[in-house]
Amino acid sequence: MLTKTKIYLSSPHMGGNEQKYVNDAFETNWIAPLGPNVNGFEDDIKSYLGFNNEVAVLSSGTASIHLALELIGVSKGDEVLCQSFTFSASANPIMYLGATPVFIDSEKDTWNMSPELLEIAIKDRIEKNKKPKAIVAVHLYGMPYKANEINVIAKKYDIAVVEDSAEALGSTYHDKACGTLSDFGILSFNGNKIITTSGGGALITKTKALKDKAVFLSTQARDDAPHYQHSHVGYNYRMSNVLAGIGRGQMEVLDDRVAARRANYEFYKKHLSGFNTIEFVDEPAGSYSNRWITCIKTDSFETREKIRLTLLEDDIESRPLWKPMHTQPVFKDCLHFSDGTSEDLFEKGLCLPSGSNLTNDDLNRILEIINNTPNL
Ligand SMILES: Cc1ncc(COP(=O)(O)O)c(C=O)c1O
Repeated sequence: MLTKTKIYLSSPHMGGNEQKYVNDAFETNWIAPLGPNVNGFEDDIKSYLGFNNEVAVLSSGTASIHLALELIGVSKGDEVLCQSFTFSASANPIMYLGATPVFIDSEKDTWNMSPELLEIAIKDRIEKNKKPKAIVAVHLYGMPYKANEINVIAKKYDIAVVEDSAEALGSTYHDKACGTLSDFGILSFNGNKIITTSGGGALITKTKALKDKAVFLSTQARDDAPHYQHSHVGYNYRMSNVLAGIGRGQMEVLDDRVAARRANYEFYKKHLSGFNTIEFVDEPAGSYSNRWITCIKTDSFETREKIRLTLLEDDIESRPLWKPMHTQPVFKDCLHFSDGTSEDLFEKGLCLPSGSNLTNDDLNRILEIINNTPNL
């Protein structure tokens, strides 16, 4: 019997040259968290994002958020405002620093941080003598958040912004690259991302001094001395030169990966818009999404589950949208400013298979299964 292959939500997609850069690392014995691939990968990202940015490649996106918050000066007892509708990695580093997240719900245009709720939260916290130390806003699923509005509010109250662009490399907002729109940006190169180094991330800063400080902290904070001398607590967060080689190869195909993911979105939208139980979220004027994951919002939990389970029967992976952080057991004691938007998205929303390596046959197979879902 012919068995169908599993279709994943978002799997790695190598371009071909990654192996060459990895071989270079082996041939030159740069098997270390420094070397030509680390420098080359940072230069490649910099030229992609714009040369007025500095880039430090690190072991993960989570590590990058951690260092961004530390560079801002977040410490024990502080409060940090964080988008609730996100992956837990946006919020966990707040806890590593002994600070507390305060969660902000989403608006309906982009599903990202609501500027209105953000300002309400800031006013409330200032009134209670707990002025927040930072804001973590997220371009979820590749869709740029309302950065102009968020930046105006952040500036008004003098609060630093960490731009979680883990899912949004290749997205732009009013022609500026996501990851470069605020004080600190972060990227992820985890296995499911638009490009991958198997695991990895990057911190984007506005000055060389901040980049140097991040590199210092990420390499165990060694003072300038012939022996091992430390005046700060450091981390082992630098990216390996072997993995940076994968990243260099991946950067060569980033534009193709964005085009393929956007084409997936267009395919689903074209063929599924006829169902009045399924909605898509369009790009607001000035926003360009890498469409890392194509998401749909259905009319009910039951519809969403019907589609998910029918796909699963055919070995096709799909997944409910992120469960809001303010509803997660681990953050149950944290304050939140919410109006039900992200809870509604979680209940009714579904991520469809979105890899840049999906074939036409794969897409047609997914479509046929959805089309045949009973009573859609
Ligand atoms: C929104 C978001 N933030 C942060 C991260 C953390 O990145 P990493 O897995 O590289 O630590 C991810 C992805 O995993 C993510 O999706």
